[in-house]
Amino acid sequence: MAAGYSLGAGVAMLASNEAAFAPLEPVVEAARRAAMGANRYPDPGYTQLREALAGRYGVPAQRIALGAGSCDLLLAAGEALLEPGAELVYGWPSFSMYPHLAAASGARAIQVALNEQAVHDLDAIASEVTVATRLVIICNPTGTALRLEQVEAFLARIPDYVCVILDEAYVEFSLTVGDPLASTELLSRYPNLVILRTFSKVYGLAGLRVGYALCGSESFRVAVDQVRQPFYLSGAAQAAAVEALRYQDEVERRVAATVAARIELSEALRERGHWVADSDANFVWVRVSDDRQETAGDETPVVEALRERDVIVRGGSAFGGRGFVRVTLGTEAENDRFLRALDSAC
Ligand SMILES: Cc1ncc(COP(=O)(O)O)c(C=O)c1O
Repeated sequence: MAAGYSLGAGVAMLASNEAAFAPLEPVVEAARRAAMGANRYPDPGYTQLREALAGRYGVPAQRIALGAGSCDLLLAAGEALLEPGAELVYGWPSFSMYPHLAAASGARAIQVALNEQAVHDLDAIASEVTVATRLVIICNPTGTALRLEQVEAFLARIPDYVCVILDEAYVEFSLTVGDPLASTELLSRYPNLVILRTFSKVYGLAGLRVGYALCGSESFRVAVDQVRQPFYLSGAAQAAAVEALRYQDEVERRVAATVAARIELSEALRERGHWVADSDANFVWVRVSDDRQETAGDETPVVEALRERDVIVRGGSAFGGRGFVRVTLGTEAENDRFLRALDSAC
């Protein structure tokens, strides 16, 4: 059963960038086996998962932090590193969770506008770093992607007292970045770098909530572990994640299918006259408002019209993109449905 939250089956859920693929059978089986021991608390050292990640990425287990989704790690980073008077810098629009870090800690959030191609402006971000900055978040890809050389040149400009989180939730889908192992090489040169990843996207385990951070030094893991309860990741979630890592061929197959779907959907939207950002992720960022000036119209009527047609997308206003919608790449049938609904809605 793939019911959408409480919305019921038959609704095209294209708002949260989940995978359209169901978890693999052996992954479900690993979770089931672990659930049979659910009378015990889960392993608080997360030993198997940390070792599996260490093996895959070549990062020592002590430099790997885990969380109940990467959102958990983001919030813990905010709690551990920020305080009133401190500053947090990130590109915007990007991920709706980032403003919560400032809201929860009393730190000041500095949002740096993406350029008109919806790409991070790294010069502008670097120029916002001051003695008060504790944390910079670069989301790559945030729809559009930066090349690794650009990320490295940016890191070289950032003082080492600033923690830089490189949020790579969608990195596997990125042709610009290419190899999802490549950015991990930066960790040996930048101890202040934290690469944030998730099992919610290409691994298709959003419902089990597993995120991880590969860190340039142990200090980030120690800091975030100090502000959380010991048992944040269930045994079933840990077991499923360990098993999922074993199927890299499946990851490649999913990436190929997603890339084909995003080319097709982006072209179809452009043919209809919409501006669409170049996507390196499992979603597209598309302008749906008629007004192309800075007073761009509100996307809400389109979001609501799609919803009436049982197609759920995310309105951009929630994260700084008035006039835009973010549409997750679903199954072929769901993507077609979105286009048909949009045709009748606009
Ligand atoms: C950029 C980005 N980072 C992190 C996440 C969080 O994912 P999770 O908490 O499911 O690991 C998301 C989810 O949509 C995201 O878009």
